[in-house]
Amino acid sequence: MTDRTILKVTDLSVRFPIRGPFGRTLGQIKALDSVSFDLNEGEILGLVGESGCGKSTLGKTLMGIQGPNEGSILFEGKEIAGRTPREARALRRRLQYAYQDPGASLDPRWKIGKSLEEPLIIHTKLPHGERMTKVREILTSVGLPAGHADLFPHEISGGQQRRVGLARILMLNPEVIILDEPTAGLDVSVQATVLRLFRDLRDTFDLTYIFISHDLSVVRLMCHRVAVMYLGRIVEIGPVEELMDNPKHPYTQSLLAAIPKVNGPRVTENFWLKGEPADASNLPPGCRFQGRCPHAQPLCREKDPDDRLIGASSVACHFAGELTPPVPAQKERLTL
Ligand SMILES: Nc1ncnc2c1ncn2[C@@H]1O[C@H](COP(=O)(O)OP(=O)(O)O)[C@@H](O)[C@H]1O
Ligand SMILES: [Mg+2]
Repeated sequence: MTDRTILKVTDLSVRFPIRGPFGRTLGQIKALDSVSFDLNEGEILGLVGESGCGKSTLGKTLMGIQGPNEGSILFEGKEIAGRTPREARALRRRLQYAYQDPGASLDPRWKIGKSLEEPLIIHTKLPHGERMTKVREILTSVGLPAGHADLFPHEISGGQQRRVGLARILMLNPEVIILDEPTAGLDVSVQATVLRLFRDLRDTFDLTYIFISHDLSVVRLMCHRVAVMYLGRIVEIGPVEELMDNPKHPYTQSLLAAIPKVNGPRVTENFWLKGEPADASNLPPGCRFQGRCPHAQPLCREKDPDDRLIGASSVACHFAGELTPPVPAQKERLTL
């Protein structure tokens, strides 16, 4: 990892209209609410939080698939928002989004080689022979035989399809890859090999990742830093060890308390965090977590907390640093 900032996100907000009958706008969902963070070259930044907190929206907005309502995205110092389509296309090659199920992005009627060749046809002027050389090279670097180019997607396993999905992204030499739940739905044994592959590819191709996952044990294993999102806001961001061993936001504390023990009985329910997140189209006054927070005080119902630097983490909580988690944070480790 270097000290060079490759991506700088400032006060990014995305709102979706809620449409009623006859297309009338009934309200707005704040999918991203003033999100800011930096990404360093070579870094793996984890992005965690419950379903619906805005992880995919953040990924898609960085990619330019989703336009922001406000905010700035600097990629290598240049603003992404407001680009011409041609510039956006050139940029998009260097910033890639890996969908939750990359197998689904493969055309079942096409041989794998053709699916891999397609991005080169669209984005480059390479002749067919050179395109196929590159296809074979990239297949090999994701750990598949070059001969897989002649197979159809249904002829390979789910784990191999993930590798092909990754190969498709790598065809265009990206610098930043947004991995959205990259191991969801894979067997644990296959997960480990895919995670190892991500790490190897990062080293081989000098990649930087945003690693979206709800699996905190995987995040601990893979990431340098972690951002915890709650209802469209980053509520805590910090180095992985500090965030996991010494979580400061009560929401982070509760997420960690809910991790199933690797060698113990499985805790399937989070026994500390009660209720559902607030309605993203109708946030409560004050802190968005106050309705579920066991420590909430009158101030929390009045004022939305600013981000505060505590140790090496930035935390959006009035009382962060003064709170003791009611259950010890999970300290068990997986190894690859
Ligand atoms: N295209 C869309 N139109 C309207 N609402 C959306 C759209 N995409 C996402 N949302 C809403 O935005 C919020 C964040 O969604 P998402 O980014 O998919 O969350 P996550 O990936 O963390 O599960 C949710 O409330 C979701 O329902
Ligand atoms: Mg998602």
